[in-house]
Amino acid sequence: MILALTFILSGFVKAVDPLGTQYKIHDYLTAMGLSALASDTLTLPAAVILATVEFILGICLLFAIRRRLVSKVVLAVMIIMTPLTLWLALTNPITDCGCFGDALVLTNWQTLWKNVVLLCAAVIVWKWPTLQPRLISEPNQWIVVNYSVAFILFVITGRSLYTLPQFDFRPYHIGADLRAGWQRMMDGEDSPYADFFIERTDDGEDITEAVLNDSSYTFLLVAPHLEQADDSQLDELNHVYEYSLDHGYPFYCLTASTGKAISRWCDMTGAEYPFCNTDDITLKTVIRSNPGLLLLHNGVVIRKWSHNALPSEEELNSRLEDSPLGQLPTETVTSKILWILTWFVLPLVLLTLADRLWAWTHWIRKKKRKSENSDHSENSDNNPIHKKESKMRKKIVAGNWKMNMNLQDGIALAKELNETLKADKPNCGVVICTPFIHLASIAQFLDQDIIGLGAENCADKEKGAFTGEVSAEMVKSTGAQYVILGHSERREYYKETPEILKEKVLLAQKNDLKVIFCIGESLEEREAGKQNEVVKAELEGSVFNLSEEDFRKIVIAYEPIWAIGTGKTATAEQAEEIHAYIRSIIAEKYGQAVADDTTILYGGSCKASNAPELFAKPDIDGGLIGGASLKAADFKGIIDAWKK
Ligand code: PGA
Repeated sequence: MILALTFILSGFVKAVDPLGTQYKIHDYLTAMGLSALASDTLTLPAAVILATVEFILGICLLFAIRRRLVSKVVLAVMIIMTPLTLWLALTNPITDCGCFGDALVLTNWQTLWKNVVLLCAAVIVWKWPTLQPRLISEPNQWIVVNYSVAFILFVITGRSLYTLPQFDFRPYHIGADLRAGWQRMMDGEDSPYADFFIERTDDGEDITEAVLNDSSYTFLLVAPHLEQADDSQLDELNHVYEYSLDHGYPFYCLTASTGKAISRWCDMTGAEYPFCNTDDITLKTVIRSNPGLLLLHNGVVIRKWSHNALPSEEELNSRLEDSPLGQLPTETVTSKILWILTWFVLPLVLLTLADRLWAWTHWIRKKKRKSENSDHSENSDNNPIHKKESKMRKKIVAGNWKMNMNLQDGIALAKELNETLKADKPNCGVVICTPFIHLASIAQFLDQDIIGLGAENCADKEKGAFTGEVSAEMVKSTGAQYVILGHSERREYYKETPEILKEKVLLAQKNDLKVIFCIGESLEEREAGKQNEVVKAELEGSVFNLSEEDFRKIVIAYEPIWAIGTGKTATAEQAEEIHAYIRSIIAEKYGQAVADDTTILYGGSCKASNAPELFAKPDIDGGLIGGASLKAADFKGIIDAWKK
């Protein structure tokens, strides 16, 4: 919490005043002898990125989003920052570190101790990242992150850069009594206005006291460097000047630029107002806009405008004494904080509450289901299928029609299956993989909540001059969700190599198709005892290159070639042994959790009569069915094995 809130606060105050942050980065680079890097094109984006990253890291810590990654990044930040602040404390090249902008000014030693505390906290979070309690469940975390990025980048930083910072922590904020502060400084007291002076450029006369003591209104156009000042709003600016002339309000342009730059500005803009010299750092502190406009009344700052939001002609239609412009604005700091609470904090609080409520009802439902399942299995004679129900991985019975069925027969079979399974819902996932030509027609009527549809193959090329091929994108466009890849018949008769299959898998996943990836050994390989070696090489050759996230989307089908279409089934024990081996190599590659979640189907002469025994094995999660998927009743018999 300490880390999270510090990062949020520190990112927020930097984002409120990106130009201030930019000036600070500039100071740091200069102190480190890197002034060559201190150009505006680098330092302003750096300031925006720094503020956004700090704020988002804080939000991620608060909500415990991407805990492992975020805790590493936060630790890295603290490991870099702490020695840097030690150097600052020892050598004092910059008096105020700027961690919290102008909102909270710390000495360099205070900053160092603050960072030591944060470093300790960062080490704790990094060591035990998963102990951070999640405020929001994983599927909804993107909302928090995107909303926070949009808020900090567009609402806070963007608005501040376009107009002025919403919160002004500097001594020249609206409502600041410059006259009183300046007077205290003259009396020898400590005052932030020590560098504030106004000196006429024509005769060098210091008119600070006269300006601050003027009981009427005074406009101060502040342009630290006229060479870089934005001249896009000249008409509005000249209009304000004319207004001040008409009503007898003094108007001065305060700048640190030299006479040459002033004359260029006058030539370019037709400016006729008097110019005064002021310290450039003071001017940058007065207003974060070049140029910006300030209105003083009785030595008090009444209004501030950026050049992008100067007062309009309608607003300047009467004397300031009678117009709202001449009074302190009604918007207070409290109302601004309330605005942020309403538009940023409240939506996140409501989202968190909704998410927690959803998680809670989900948990209750799961608990209920679990207790129902345990009642059920107590009555079920220790049937191994029921024992497996507690595991998360999906059970699937998939049909592989191969090159069978013309379009009419295929549609009829799919319709029959659709009706049968709608009437008697399966206990497992069911998929039918059909020839390409059937897909689009079947997709029209198949209830894909009950029966998934898939192709038996797809091309290893994305598109183009490959006569006769069908791409993954085309398969997806029919409405299919699955594709079988690596079937032994394709490997053997069409010479599909592991490299070709690797491409196919990538393209299928790119097009959001779920891959049923087939592996299995030939009779000779089994007789030579090489089955483990073969399946391992097949996985390594085509799917072990995938990221964990992508591998999780793969369904494996183990099909011993000697059992396919031959009527010879592997015994349940033989199948279980190699399924367990396959799971163990997945665990080696991706970890036990992924292995536990991977569905591994058995294929090869699987029928209604042998399915229950095969499916009862702990590592067999269903079947890939060839011949027996061509008749609805036979296929249904296998699907029903999950009900026995
Ligand atoms: P089979 O085929 O069930 O006819 O043996 C299985 C397959 O090749 O997927």
